Amino acid sequence: MATADLDAAQPCFHSVEGAATAVAHPNIALIKYWGKRDERLVLPRTDSLSMTLDVFPTTTTVRLAPAAEADEVFFNGAPGVGEARKRILSFLDVVRETAGQRERAVVDTRNTVPTGAGLASSASGFAALAVAAAAAFGLDLDVTELSRLARRGSGSASRSIFGGFAIWHAGRGLGPAADLASFAEPVSVGDLDPALVVALLNTGPKAVSSRRAMQRTVDTSPLYRPWADSSTADLAAMREALVKGDLDSVGEIAERNALGMHATMLAARPAVRYLSPATLTVLDTVTQLRRDGVSAYSTMDAGPNVKVLCHRRDASQVADAVRSAASCQVVISGCGPGASLQSGALQR
Ligand code: PMV
Repeated sequence: MATADLDAAQPCFHSVEGAATAVAHPNIALIKYWGKRDERLVLPRTDSLSMTLDVFPTTTTVRLAPAAEADEVFFNGAPGVGEARKRILSFLDVVRETAGQRERAVVDTRNTVPTGAGLASSASGFAALAVAAAAAFGLDLDVTELSRLARRGSGSASRSIFGGFAIWHAGRGLGPAADLASFAEPVSVGDLDPALVVALLNTGPKAVSSRRAMQRTVDTSPLYRPWADSSTADLAAMREALVKGDLDSVGEIAERNALGMHATMLAARPAVRYLSPATLTVLDTVTQLRRDGVSAYSTMDAGPNVKVLCHRRDASQVADAVRSAASCQVVISGCGPGASLQSGALQR
């Protein structure tokens, strides 16, 4: 049963009550995941690598509802609607299939980060849901299995099972063997005390979901293949830089990988453009910080918001520069923890 080190005061927390609560944090990819080779199994085309944040946690409770005929979903206390709700229901079907059960469930998920704004809410959301749902349905999963399960909800969620830095292996081929080979795990990091300064430029939902945008990019962008090839080389260089604790190399590789990913989207037909004028203002500010001798590097996901990688000791200076250049709210994050049941940390 236990996927976690359950509190002795609540030894049967999930098995008797059929309910569990989990917390997970978003992660920001330094080597991006962009493009699937299997939509249903969420198998990516390339490996990716991320840092888990210590801000913007998602807390999710899953409670089995044996008498109910349908699942129920609540986002921040309000009934879930639309695509976001549909994704959770499909995910519950995957959990039920894995557990060999048919019971319906009530999902209550609370995000502290704006949803669908390219701030990795789906990573924290599906990591927390995977851990809570696995426990509520009595699945005995280790962290690798939880990472595979979270992947089925949202690819990037596979990495939020882990704290610190994590690599998500693409695996090869298709089918069940490929499914087994595609999971995240922690990566070794040398002497590094990094921060990500998050510039909240626009927290509204994005016009095109990352799922649709990456599919269009793979299908139509002539730049996709070259980027995917260079991303494989970037990942190898990034791992070396992380082991050496070389923040400048880590940052340079992360920035070029992210800009390359956005270039693939700009070349898609029709183009997908998430970057806004405010994004470019922050990019210029970060370039100027580097000219002034501060190690700072930008990365952007499926939205206009910029995350700036720097040494933790420089984070306030970077935050001040970004805030005054873009007149925006700024949040400083360090390396965060992996997903956990509320009553204890994942063990296996
Ligand atoms: O996990 P998804 O489907 O939300 O896709 C995430 C894609 C990026 O955030 C742009 C990159 C990444 O690796 O997280």
